Amino acid sequence: MRHSRLVVVMVLVATTATAQELKFEGLALTPPMGWNSWNHFGCDVDEEVVREIADAMVESGMREAGYLYVNIDDCWQGERDADGWIQPDRGRFPSGMEALADYVHSRGLKLGLYSDAGWRTCGGRPGSRGYEFQDALTYARWGIDYLKYDWCATDGLEAEGAYQTMGRALVSAGRPVVFSLCEWGDNQPWEWGPAIGHLWRTTGDIAACWDCEVDHGDWSSWGVLRILDMQDGLRAHAGPDHWNDPDMMEVGNGMSESEDRAHLSMWAMLAAPLIAGNDLCTMSESTRTILTNRAVIAVDQDPLGVQGFRYRRDGDLEVWFRPLEGEDWAMCVLNRGEASRRFEFAWREEPVVDELSGRRTLFRARLYRGVDLWTGKDLGTTRETLTTEVPGHDVLMVRLVRMVEPEG
Ligand code: GLA
Repeated sequence: MRHSRLVVVMVLVATTATAQELKFEGLALTPPMGWNSWNHFGCDVDEEVVREIADAMVESGMREAGYLYVNIDDCWQGERDADGWIQPDRGRFPSGMEALADYVHSRGLKLGLYSDAGWRTCGGRPGSRGYEFQDALTYARWGIDYLKYDWCATDGLEAEGAYQTMGRALVSAGRPVVFSLCEWGDNQPWEWGPAIGHLWRTTGDIAACWDCEVDHGDWSSWGVLRILDMQDGLRAHAGPDHWNDPDMMEVGNGMSESEDRAHLSMWAMLAAPLIAGNDLCTMSESTRTILTNRAVIAVDQDPLGVQGFRYRRDGDLEVWFRPLEGEDWAMCVLNRGEASRRFEFAWREEPVVDELSGRRTLFRARLYRGVDLWTGKDLGTTRETLTTEVPGHDVLMVRLVRMVEPEG
């Protein structure tokens, strides 16, 4: 009896926050996983799409693989009523948000919404500026579990303060909610974001291409490699309950299979939130297989929560390491170029030292076995030099598992 009461108290402590606090602690101990409407549907989102996506999350095995949040991005909003309460766009969401939240919850998933710290969202819908507490209360009443909060139409606003205001409003409304800061990295959100939100965008928007810049006039969106390169220097800021967010995924949105594979792998090395952005209802079997690769997801979701780092760059070939819980490591060899590249790694000559986590592995002194996380193949031990080919725009992603050597 005493024991079960203690458990209840501990659960309450873990998921609630007092009005002085700016966020609900403990909601994102590993990077959030889910889906978001923007990358594929843009403004063309409605309740039918959201229901079908929720069904597909379950039927495709995405939910079982860990994807939990179904997030509606921009353009769900209608106008405010006479008293200032935000209304969903009735044409697109005729049944209302509460009914939609009930449906998504009934599928064992959670529902997320989008708003903006400014007067208007990027899609021109009403923003939350001046209505933060009222909007937070509305989301809580509807049963919303995740809020992505954008940064359009914010002239004259100070970023940290604006996000603090919404953080306070969400906490006051009382329903635990993951708070995703979408400020694009303009005001170093990694410095003040951890106290306010569970994740913060580090860059402008992603685009479904390998290494491109898409010019939209006064702003650009960026391919996977461009976004990856913009993460340099940020890893110390991430950890359990506060993550760097290099933006939602473009897997299944038009890149090649190997590029999609590399994209997910690198997001896992970065301990990035894994928010799918493709149409889950029509995705190919190959896209589904990529998105639900449990071994790669396990790297992303590693409980230690230490973001990976670039260990070496040799032309188009990069070697990344990420320390995992226990003594394991993830290693990812990324081939940025088009041509296939031979890769040799003499473990015993490579001391892998990570100042941030304090992890230091001398493969000369400690034996590991490597597993290829995309093929499941055993790559042998770190006693032998690893020699392989990494195809263009692809990765070799490995989990190194510590082996206990027999004594004597
Ligand atoms: C901004 C965000 C995107 C998306 C759009 C919606 O560009 O960075 O992720 O939410 O707005 O309009």
